[in-house]
Amino acid sequence: MTESEIFEFFHNLGIVPVVKIDDAAKAEKLAEAMIKGGIPCAEVTFRTDAAEEAIRRMTTAFPEMIVGAGTVLNKETAERAVKAGAKFIVSPGLDEGTVRWCQENGIPVTPGVSSASEIQKGVNLGLKVLKFFPAESSGGVKMLKDLGGPFPQVKFMTTGGINTANLEEYARAKNVLAVGGSWMVKADLINEDKWDEIEALCREAVTKLQGFELAHFGINAKCKDCAEAMTKKFGAFGMIPSATSKSFFMDKSIEIMNENGRGTHGHIGYKVNNVQRAMNYVKNLGYTIAEDSYTYDASGKVKFFYVNEEIGGFAIHFMAK
Ligand code: 3PG
Repeated sequence: MTESEIFEFFHNLGIVPVVKIDDAAKAEKLAEAMIKGGIPCAEVTFRTDAAEEAIRRMTTAFPEMIVGAGTVLNKETAERAVKAGAKFIVSPGLDEGTVRWCQENGIPVTPGVSSASEIQKGVNLGLKVLKFFPAESSGGVKMLKDLGGPFPQVKFMTTGGINTANLEEYARAKNVLAVGGSWMVKADLINEDKWDEIEALCREAVTKLQGFELAHFGINAKCKDCAEAMTKKFGAFGMIPSATSKSFFMDKSIEIMNENGRGTHGHIGYKVNNVQRAMNYVKNLGYTIAEDSYTYDASGKVKFFYVNEEIGGFAIHFMAK
């Protein structure tokens, strides 16, 4: 995989777990649980002697899994990690020698930064993706938004203090490539062989990151007059109609389509934190995307889409929060 393919994969999945493993013999079980939970990637940190062997075992057993090395403090460690099969390198801080070694060897590298000066240094080394660490203690999402002003070209992998409670704020931030963290793969869970729990925590993280929120129900009327007649009926329940080019919204919770509404019975609309990631998520569930339903934001990114499959006769669409 090329560097841009790896970063695109991280963006679309949205999560890269940070692993501290004490016993390399548990690496395959851990990788299996993470893959089953929907997260086929990991940053294995060089905070234990088992890291190198764990990377080797994970990548041998699951070659499709994107395993990288974290807490890489110098180029010698980067070299060892890559020899063991690491596909990317992460450091807590910015070490020029490590960055240059990775660049010369075509290995994606994301050094840690937590200030404008460090970001500037990273940018001048030719990097477009940096690790924002430690995210929460360095100012969190507010700091990321402020940094987006002078550094619009930079995307961040954010780690340090992220968990299910604050995950979604990061998922909505425009300059976050992916969030990272150890909460779903804690060392204790690995040491105690809690594979089912790790799988469940991974699945919970992936779903939570999407931030699914029911937006409205759609009713298919046969014609505009029929739709308008319906607005009167819902109006009697205190709902206020507002017209769009193709429908009437009753408050925000019911949309009455004038004609040619999708779905056998109508549709259900969901809001999500990031439309691109939602597309990846539903594809992984086996849905296909109705590309003819796309609408775009000002920057040309898809902001709305339907899937082709219905649930109980209802078409389903997703849109940005
Ligand atoms: C890291 O190295 O990225 C962090 O240790 C992960 O942070 P967390 O343990 O707070 O998730």
